[in-house]
Amino acid sequence: MTQDEMKQAVARAAIEYVVPGEIIGVGTGSTANFFIDELGKIKDRIKGAVASSEATAQRLQSHGITVFDLNDIDSMSVYIDGADEITATGAMIKGGGAALTREKIVASVAKQFVCIADGSKLVDLLGNFPLPVEVIPMAQAVVARKLAALGGEPRLRVKDGKPVVTDNCCYIIDVLGLRIQNPVELEAQINDIVGVVTVGLFARRAADIGLLGTADGVQ
Ligand code: A5P
Repeated sequence: MTQDEMKQAVARAAIEYVVPGEIIGVGTGSTANFFIDELGKIKDRIKGAVASSEATAQRLQSHGITVFDLNDIDSMSVYIDGADEITATGAMIKGGGAALTREKIVASVAKQFVCIADGSKLVDLLGNFPLPVEVIPMAQAVVARKLAALGGEPRLRVKDGKPVVTDNCCYIIDVLGLRIQNPVELEAQINDIVGVVTVGLFARRAADIGLLGTADGVQ
């Protein structure tokens, strides 16, 4: 099985967690895209979706799925999204696609977080994948110094020679070289740095269910 086939398999398996007649929270990234394609096949069975990025909103709409503003709803049964790394207890690094802030906001409203990923994302210790931190542009240098003081190696995310700008008009600092022994504590510590919008550690709001694609099927 290729990595894409594993992603497709977990995307199909996640359809089981979609509650008929409800609004579904939908993540961002290549695995989430496979899920959106599956959701499109059952679009008549759901009320609609809340998107965690502009890219996801566009893909949902291209399937004819109604996209709701999060401000117009007060509860959501399930949020389904990928991860860059996930531990056996459901703590995750997310934000490889720069959508971490809206992902965390939508996930915070959902009763259940279902993480879908290929098996390569399962780790014993978080940190091999550079930890994304969304920052207010004017604070990027000061935040970078504070992240370095925590033991990481901060790098401003750049594309075509320019800083990557998120859907929230902010920048991303990727922090390399972290070995995250206590993700709950580090999440709180980084969130406390003035100028940080969101850290891509999802430990306080970890995944409730992880569907992992492996050569032996979905686990
Ligand atoms: C988007 O910002 C991320 O949090 C994604 O959920 C994560 O990067 C996983 O992406 P893939 O499904 O493309 O691996």
